[in-house]
Amino acid sequence: MRSKEVHLLERPQGLPTLGQFGIVETDVSDPAAGELLVENIYMSVDPAMRPRLAGQTPLNEAMGGGAIGRVLKSRHAGFKEGDLVESMRGFRQYFVSEGNGLSKLDADGMPLPAYMSVLGLTGLTAYGGLLVTAALKDGESVFVSAAAGSVGSVAAQIAKIKGCYVIGSAGSDSKCRWLKEELKLDAVINYKKEVLRTALKSAAPRGIDVYFDNVGGEHLNAALPRMNALGRIAVCGMISTYNNFGAISEPVTTLSNMIYNRLTMKGFVFYEFEPLRAQFLSDMKRWLKEGRIQYRSTILQGIEQAPAALIGLFSGANTGKMLVQLVKDP
Ligand SMILES: NC(=O)c1ccc[n+]([C@@H]2O[C@H](COP(=O)([O-])OP(=O)(O)OC[C@H]3O[C@@H](n4cnc5c(N)ncnc54)[C@H](OP(=O)(O)O)[C@@H]3O)[C@@H](O)[C@H]2O)c1
Repeated sequence: MRSKEVHLLERPQGLPTLGQFGIVETDVSDPAAGELLVENIYMSVDPAMRPRLAGQTPLNEAMGGGAIGRVLKSRHAGFKEGDLVESMRGFRQYFVSEGNGLSKLDADGMPLPAYMSVLGLTGLTAYGGLLVTAALKDGESVFVSAAAGSVGSVAAQIAKIKGCYVIGSAGSDSKCRWLKEELKLDAVINYKKEVLRTALKSAAPRGIDVYFDNVGGEHLNAALPRMNALGRIAVCGMISTYNNFGAISEPVTTLSNMIYNRLTMKGFVFYEFEPLRAQFLSDMKRWLKEGRIQYRSTILQGIEQAPAALIGLFSGANTGKMLVQLVKDP
């Protein structure tokens, strides 16, 4: 069987270009005893893939990333044909596995894209980052950057559920409208049109207790002077830096605000919230059922679109989770 996969051909400097990726056809053999053959259905496209293109991602090999697939053939005792499986073997159509790193997905009634966003890694990131790292308290004032993205849109809505005053920034009027009109954020800033520092000052009349930072750079510079005493900055990501050599950020010139306001700034990675997964899923499924959390996905069709999807994250081509669909959703 032939399988198309996405290779990195050349290490990007700055924003990647389509020509730095290739779609390559390879042979996939039939599964041997103890193996299974998986066909990927959806694959996740994540900002953190960009810094890895600088070195960690091998050249001329299938790239990796989160995926949900379906077992086409199984000679493995733990999996049967038709099972849905989650893996980190995205960026390819088919793969043969001995089962390592695969987990079965019990898609209990939600569409598959939900398991790759609001009920998956990005949902857990938002939940843990806000409730554990930032130790959010009910009724606080919260600022979320990249608020119309996958992590940001969930973080902003959890903060609303906790009775907070929520400010979100995003890069287009239509994203800001979604945040204000449908997700019911209290204030929104189109950072591409407004001067962030002044817009944030007027959007945060009570100051900011928690800044959930997805962006870094000028967003962080704008948030620091607005932070209230004992405020917390949960550093989830710094997408504004990822295309820079070494992911070097713009100078953070407002750090002195940390002193008298006794601020805490703490980074985190989603896997540290694994012990919370059962609680997270129970809360999130209830909120979804109650209509208190909405989610969106931008789904590009066909593996050939994977490079464009990755590059598109840096121009804001996605609302909610960026996914690529490889075959029809069962
Ligand atoms: N710590 C963790 O465990 C963890 C886990 C997952 C993700 N993350 C981080 O969380 C952040 C969001 O990830 P995600 O998967 O949810 O992606 P996402 O927010 O769905 O997509 C990225 C968004 O970032 C915005 N953006 C791109 N370049 C920007 C810039 N220079 N300045 C401001 N905004 C910019 C774009 O929206 P606009 O149209 O609004 O510009 C784009 O849609 C990323 O920094 C990522 O690395 C961290």
